[in-house]
Amino acid sequence: MASTTFFIILASLSLSLAAAAAAVTYPITKDTAKTRLYYTTLQVGTPPSSISLTLTLASQFTWFDCETKNNAYNSTSYNPVRCSTKACDDAGGAGCLGCTNGPPKPGCTNDTCALGAYNPFNDFIASAGMYTDILRVPSTAAKTVVSAFPFACAYGLNGLPKMSRGMLGLAMTKISFQAQVSSALKLPNIFALCLPSTGTGKLLVGGGPYSFSTGDLVETPIVINPNSTAAMYFVGEPSDEYFLGVKSIKVAGVAVALNSTLLTFDKDGYGGTKLSTIDPHTVLHSGIYKPIVNAFTAAARGMKMKRAANYGYFKVCYAASSVANDRHGRIVPIIDLVLQNVSTYWRMYGSDLMVRVSNDVLCLGIVESSEKNPRTAIVVGGRQMENRLVEFDLVVSKLRFSQPLIRRSTSCSH
Ligand SMILES: *[C@@H]1O[C@H](CO)[C@@H](O)[C@H](O)[C@H]1NC(C)=O
Ligand SMILES: *[C@@H]1O[C@H](CO)[C@@H](O)[C@H](O)[C@H]1NC(C)=O
Ligand SMILES: *[C@@H]1O[C@H](CO)[C@@H](O)[C@H](O)[C@H]1NC(C)=O
Ligand SMILES: *[C@@H]1O[C@H](CO)[C@@H](O)[C@H](O)[C@H]1NC(C)=O
Ligand SMILES: *[C@@H]1O[C@H](CO)[C@@H](O)[C@H](O)[C@H]1NC(C)=O
Repeated sequence: MASTTFFIILASLSLSLAAAAAAVTYPITKDTAKTRLYYTTLQVGTPPSSISLTLTLASQFTWFDCETKNNAYNSTSYNPVRCSTKACDDAGGAGCLGCTNGPPKPGCTNDTCALGAYNPFNDFIASAGMYTDILRVPSTAAKTVVSAFPFACAYGLNGLPKMSRGMLGLAMTKISFQAQVSSALKLPNIFALCLPSTGTGKLLVGGGPYSFSTGDLVETPIVINPNSTAAMYFVGEPSDEYFLGVKSIKVAGVAVALNSTLLTFDKDGYGGTKLSTIDPHTVLHSGIYKPIVNAFTAAARGMKMKRAANYGYFKVCYAASSVANDRHGRIVPIIDLVLQNVSTYWRMYGSDLMVRVSNDVLCLGIVESSEKNPRTAIVVGGRQMENRLVEFDLVVSKLRFSQPLIRRSTSCSH
């Protein structure tokens, strides 16, 4: 009798342990030396190749350089996706590729669905063959393999971290990384980013609860831009990037007067606010940047912060010695992106806003768009997403985010 009870307790204990943490966790590294982009490593093919890829919320699919010369992706289990198939249409296939420099290998096959693989850093679209192959997933779920993971064999790695051989597509599509992993592993279509400032952060697929403490999450709907913001699209397609409904912006608690037309989409989908892991810092339309910076510098003067010379594209810098700090970071005027109501906002503290550019100088890590009429008015960049949990729930189309983890004396690399 006693041994039966013991057995039951053990069984339920292991069940609850299995359910306790996000099923899939990939470590994320930031290329702090150069590009300030974030990457992780997938295990693709047979034998498994380790392929490091730059995270992007903007790419509809994953693409990489399939050439074997450096870091071999020399798989025997790949399959080309054929032209004029449903899989090709569903992926947004645009044309058909062949290859005359046989023998066949990934990136050189006939009758292969062509996808447009976009590198934002040289603004180049490669016509890239679509393939599927085995993806091995670091998972505590019962299944750990995606048997037909879709990707494209592209080329042109300009601007990516040296380690990275392509881009991991996290947009809101059926062939995105998270959609494929969650569907194959029978997990909810939810993923979360905990981007590191240094060390190793996390890409989590399948939803919480999470193994680290995040505090309460703020929830806001994912807003759909009716016009695609992809590099290549069919007219009439909505965007599959992640937009937020920012209604107003406060600096030091006071709403800033700005042209609020920019916060909404015009008839061609210009305007609005999105999240981006490929912009190292938040980029604002000049019609928003100017009033925000005026409000920030005025409030900073009130705090006796002393201006220092510009640094690169940072135009608002301060002598570090004039900026107070506490255990949560620098104390500067806070900036709130106010969302669906006044009690729902994305609050940026000194730990999010200030970038140390030298021993003596800190700059506001928000920059003015170089374009006169940028596609998106507010692009929240990597630095402002770091060290907090940002969860993308594609089941109910909601975004949830934590306060900066430093306010709980931790970070994404703990
Ligand atoms: C690819 O793998 C095959 C079989 O394992 C091997 O014969 C071939 O040399 C490999 N090619 C490259 C470029 O590594
Ligand atoms: C593709 O088809 C052409 C024409 O039939 C053939 O010459 C070529 O070897 C094929 N390429 C591959 C990679 O199979
Ligand atoms: C507000 O911005 C829109 C979009 O750029 C522009 O068309 C409009 O003229 C601006 N309004 C004012 C009052 O500046
Ligand atoms: C934006 O979407 C609307 C509605 O689908 C369409 O009429 C318009 O042409 C689109 N604009 C662009 C630039 O694609
Ligand atoms: C604001 O929005 C949140 C999330 O949608 C909701 O829970 C809350 O009740 C709203 N607060 C007010 C004051 O409307």
